[in-house]
Amino acid sequence: MVNVTRDFFIGLSNNKFLNEYAKKWGFRLGAEKFVAGTTVDSVAKVVKELNSIGISCTLDNLGEFVSDKAESTKAKEEILRLLDRIHTDKLDCHLSVKLTQLGLDIDREFCVENMKEILTIAGSYGIFVNIDMEDYSHYQQTIDVLLELRKDFDNVGTVMQAYLYRTEDDLEDLKDVRLRLVKGAYKESSDVAYQSKEDIDRAFIKIAKKRLEEAEFTSIATHDHRIINEMKAFVKKKNISNDKFEFQMLYGFRTEMHSNLAEEGYNFCTYIPFGSDWFGYFMRRLAERPQNVNLVVKDVFCK
Ligand code: FDA
Repeated sequence: MVNVTRDFFIGLSNNKFLNEYAKKWGFRLGAEKFVAGTTVDSVAKVVKELNSIGISCTLDNLGEFVSDKAESTKAKEEILRLLDRIHTDKLDCHLSVKLTQLGLDIDREFCVENMKEILTIAGSYGIFVNIDMEDYSHYQQTIDVLLELRKDFDNVGTVMQAYLYRTEDDLEDLKDVRLRLVKGAYKESSDVAYQSKEDIDRAFIKIAKKRLEEAEFTSIATHDHRIINEMKAFVKKKNISNDKFEFQMLYGFRTEMHSNLAEEGYNFCTYIPFGSDWFGYFMRRLAERPQNVNLVVKDVFCK
């Protein structure tokens, strides 16, 4: 039953018509609980509040699977304006971007040039840019683009998904790259990815421990309190400095844990999506946690 619900929402997240329609529709279904408004002003306000309690942020100007160059260029320009705003307002935050928003499906070189422009400005402001990992059909291209960019820029990293069988091996060549580790949000086949929660959790814990002992800065991105507790015990036992990692969670999820972890002295970063292209992101969150569907039902019926 859980898999049927998951597949249903993942299916909706990929529906181009609904994604386009939702842009004109404005926030519905309770999406505002997980998306921090549609404008830079609205998201800057949220970042300032979180910064004031010791939480840093990563901003995602929502958008993905773009098939039109003009739309990718517009997304890039919005990201450049966002960088200016982060710099001017001295916000403690970095950026998360998706390569398919910046044209990966249209023309790889065009996408790389967009990224270079973003990284040049971000670098001049001392801002780090993380490339979100999308579905498996974009996995190898994402790694290849990352490695190409890293020849000229050191302020760029990506996300690795514990559910992929190959992640552990691929990380051997990425030890010097700042990375975010996640379980993985897309529906992938058993040819490439673990399917059960137990297998995915086991892989996540194994990879996270290895990263903490052997690699560059790692963002441990999960809402799973069992994994977080295991990581806390591990760094204590191995005497690993808090400077080597941070915990990350999504805006609107388990918010009491965000401030608790920051108060305990851990680096904590909230991933904040914003913008009108909210539908695909929101549907993936419903796929992960069907309990959130209760929020949708309340939003639809209790107004
Ligand atoms: P999971 O959903 O397995 O939950 C584990 C347990 O935690 C649950 O059983 C429950 O006990 C508890 N729990 C979880 N959420 C809760 C809640 N809201 N309230 C109460 N209890 C709760 N994916 C991807 O493919 N590419 C990417 O680039 C990213 N980026 C990204 C950034 C950040 C900051 C995060 C946190 C996540 C991503 N993801 C992602 C999504 C990720 O792959 C994954 O799908 C989700 O984080 C869900 O998995 P969890 O690790 O949170 O635990």
